[in-house]
Amino acid sequence: MATYMKPCVPLPIDAKVLEDVSEKAKDWALMHGVAMRSKQNFSKDSVTFAPFLLLPSTFPRPEFERAVNIQTVLNTLVHRVAHDFEFLRSSLSNTIKVDDFTGRLFSIYEKVLEEGITQGISLGLLRSDYFIDVPQFAVKQVEINTVATSLAGVSTVLVDCHRFTLTELGHRDKLKNLPENGALAGLSNGMLKAWEIYDRPTAAILFLVEDVTFNICDQRFHEFEIQKLNPDVRTIRKTLTEVAFQGTLDSEKRLFIDGVEIALVYFRSGYSPDQYHTNTEWNARLLMERSRAIKCPSIYYHLAGTKKIQQELARPGVLEKFLDDPADVCAVRRIFTGLYSLDQGEAGDKSIEMAIENPRKYVLKPQREGGGNNVYDEEIKDQLEKIRNTPERDAWILMEKIQPPLQKNYMIRPALSEPLYTDFVSELGIYGVIIGDAETIIENKYVGHMLRTKVSSANEGGVAAGWGALDSVYLVDPCELLE
Ligand SMILES: Nc1ncnc2c1ncn2[C@@H]1O[C@H](COP(=O)(O)OP(=O)(O)OP(=O)(O)O)[C@@H](O)[C@H]1O
Ligand SMILES: [Mg+2]
Repeated sequence: MATYMKPCVPLPIDAKVLEDVSEKAKDWALMHGVAMRSKQNFSKDSVTFAPFLLLPSTFPRPEFERAVNIQTVLNTLVHRVAHDFEFLRSSLSNTIKVDDFTGRLFSIYEKVLEEGITQGISLGLLRSDYFIDVPQFAVKQVEINTVATSLAGVSTVLVDCHRFTLTELGHRDKLKNLPENGALAGLSNGMLKAWEIYDRPTAAILFLVEDVTFNICDQRFHEFEIQKLNPDVRTIRKTLTEVAFQGTLDSEKRLFIDGVEIALVYFRSGYSPDQYHTNTEWNARLLMERSRAIKCPSIYYHLAGTKKIQQELARPGVLEKFLDDPADVCAVRRIFTGLYSLDQGEAGDKSIEMAIENPRKYVLKPQREGGGNNVYDEEIKDQLEKIRNTPERDAWILMEKIQPPLQKNYMIRPALSEPLYTDFVSELGIYGVIIGDAETIIENKYVGHMLRTKVSSANEGGVAAGWGALDSVYLVDPCELLE
């Protein structure tokens, strides 16, 4: 039987009240930038509100705190993994033979290592994603993102939208259960700190962007926040293709784009094969990586965020290599769920058998980012049958499926004429900032959170595509969690 968490206010809401508050919430969202460019009716002159939940979603307070408290440990873990060439090489050695994209990233890494790394400092703007797993009600990590981690801007603003809707509905007493969210300022301050470390007053921050940006408000929030926090810092936006044609390195390997020196490259693109149309874009990636500019992420941080590395870290004895305190090892192990290599060999064969026998218990994942790439349910069988006798299986990992509790809420989406009242599941994202080089960690922080909620029957909850929507956290003590 499904487990339901109690919503933050009694549901359903009276039809008239619902119509009124959802109309107001839509306009609130639009007027405060909880919005995106429309995929159907794209225009640079307009945005539509982003899909969102009318009310914040219930989340158990101790598990939220657990996820918050472990973030600096996860930051350290990623940082150390990223700086361990031998670990990256051996963990990814099979993957890069069959996964062309990861292979190309890895060869850039080898090239810059050979040449000597010009900029030893990296900026990590990370997001660790979790579901609550029933029946224990414990947070389990879905993955940690090290490249183009998004939604901090719009998620920060959405908390105020939920304050507005709760107040409209006469529940001001509940606002105390909405935790403060410093994600936008935290990530922006991380970028500014990297800019300061680079130490050239006229240098700019480069936002490396997609050819067409749908999630424009989220990105612009960061640009606007940076200007607000330090009006001396310029941000510019370029695509990989533009960097290839306009980017140059001077004799000190300082990166210039159209004559502007770049202190920090902040990737909001470059994480997916389709963003590299030809060799031109790969040349741009190499150029940036060779440069003195600080990268967010550097190529080794990008590689440290692959699914294969996540799976290798779950092997017995591996966390101990990177974390000094046994209590930290224990705490991190506790948030991991089953992760299995499918590499050719006996152990991989066993994992494949296990998944074919019970496909609904697992998620099959390739080395991709951006959503929509994983395989679920019966399709896992077909995919595994197809690849089990080929080296291609080394490009995939298998993960135990986390079973989150359900709750009722109202989803508001541009294409829907009225709010969708159904069963939802929520995925928590925790943002961390880390700056440092191979020897030293200069800054290591938790900065904020986000919640993404999807219709419970949907496999993936992308906000721009799919049945996902922006949400925020309503913290509840365990004794009041369930219906
Ligand atoms: N082990 C799991 N159990 C349940 N659901 C999962 C699991 N792994 C992934 N999912 C679902 O699939 C989605 C995408 O998975 P994942 O985050 O691994 O891929 P991604 O392409 O890197 O996505 P993102 O764009 O969020 O970085 C998750 O947000 C979640 O909804
Ligand atoms: Mg990801």
